Amino acid sequence: MDKIVIEGGTPLRGEIAISGAKNAALPLICACLLAPGPHILENVPDLRDVRTMLALLEALGATWKRDGATLTIDTANLNSFEASYDLVKTMRASVLVLGPLLARLGRARVSLPGGCAIGARPINFHLQGFKRLGVSHQLEDGYVDAVVDGQMVGATICFDFPSVTATENILMGAVMARGETVIKNAAREPEIANLVDMLNGMGARIRGRGGDTLLIEGVTRLRSARIRIVPDRIETGTLLIAVGATGGELSLSNGDSTMLPALYAKLRAAGVRVREDQDRVHVAGNGVVRAVDIKTMPYPGFPTDLQAQMMALMCFGQGLSLITETIFENRFMHVAELRRMGADIRINGPSAIVSGVGKLRGARVMATDLRASASLVIAGLAAEGLTQISRVYHLDRGYDDLVGKLSRVGAKIHREAE
Ligand code: EPZ
Repeated sequence: MDKIVIEGGTPLRGEIAISGAKNAALPLICACLLAPGPHILENVPDLRDVRTMLALLEALGATWKRDGATLTIDTANLNSFEASYDLVKTMRASVLVLGPLLARLGRARVSLPGGCAIGARPINFHLQGFKRLGVSHQLEDGYVDAVVDGQMVGATICFDFPSVTATENILMGAVMARGETVIKNAAREPEIANLVDMLNGMGARIRGRGGDTLLIEGVTRLRSARIRIVPDRIETGTLLIAVGATGGELSLSNGDSTMLPALYAKLRAAGVRVREDQDRVHVAGNGVVRAVDIKTMPYPGFPTDLQAQMMALMCFGQGLSLITETIFENRFMHVAELRRMGADIRINGPSAIVSGVGKLRGARVMATDLRASASLVIAGLAAEGLTQISRVYHLDRGYDDLVGKLSRVGAKIHREAE
């Protein structure tokens, strides 16, 4: 296993090109199961989770080839409908093969993903939605065994909570159902609009893009797709927050300045200068930030995937910051690691109270989950002295060469064997 070593205290200066979004690439790769293809996906990030999802599609009989950031996927010869535990246990998003396999083959056997570091993460909303579409399923040996007799039948589905992957799963299941499906209280994350664009490009008939009500008129077949993955707003947000902590100035290209309304508002309130134009975002800071309060919410509220990173920034803030996590029940594991660096953070149920200490000291710390590892990178970049972050495989799941990108804008950061 590798570790990341950071000598803190250097402002970031330069330009970084944002990669494609992990949380768009994963559902869009699954959507290729809906029709034989070949499907062309552009701007695909090179991530561990993308490689895992491609391995899962291969296990189902698909073939693929990558040319730079362009993926060509062919699913003409599917020969299985089973997603095994070995693959699913490493990546919960594997559950996204349920919808397309049921729509294409009428059958799917997918390992229950099990919990993960940040929470229990059940899939009841997914299963309730499929049941409404005429799917029957049973749970045995840790697998969901789902079957539909003939074709799925359109229905009205209202989610208890705007779940991102449940919205995506039901969308992919409904596009070839008989009749109309209405999804109410749908999630509105930009990655879902990317999926809607891909599906409509394949001949699906989906209305309500970007809203909380999606109307899907079933069609009998779909054609090949050609789609560009949207920029990764969480990578963008992570880098913007990093400049707030280290000071300096970055220009982020290939981004989309419309995807982070809540973060921009909070960074500006903290005194970080953010300027956006079409596909670029400019950020500048002097390393001094004011404390702000954060409450994570479904899009377009403050993203839970940026909560840990913002907490690292608030350790350098002037004053008290109240950070409330409303999406996941256990997403404060980075707190114990930040405390090792001198942070003053008290947890009270779903909230953490961060008392800005002005500076942190480098230390040996451990990554516990994907976004917690990004939080520790930010803390290390701005801390005094040396920080070593172990279990870097968490970071590799969701960031495309973050260490390389940061070192090219002045950070004293590298990877080495543990
Ligand atoms: C997606 O996860 C993202 N993953 C997560 O990103 C992100 O944090 C999350 O949405 C929230 O924005 C992908 O898109 C691959 P949810 P998802 O269903 O869909 C509960 C990252 O770091 N819930 O919106 O799994 C659930 O337990 C990852 O990139 C149910 O109770 O999240 C959670 O408390 C982490 N039953 C809440 O809803 C269900 O059937 C929101 O979960 C589904 C969800």
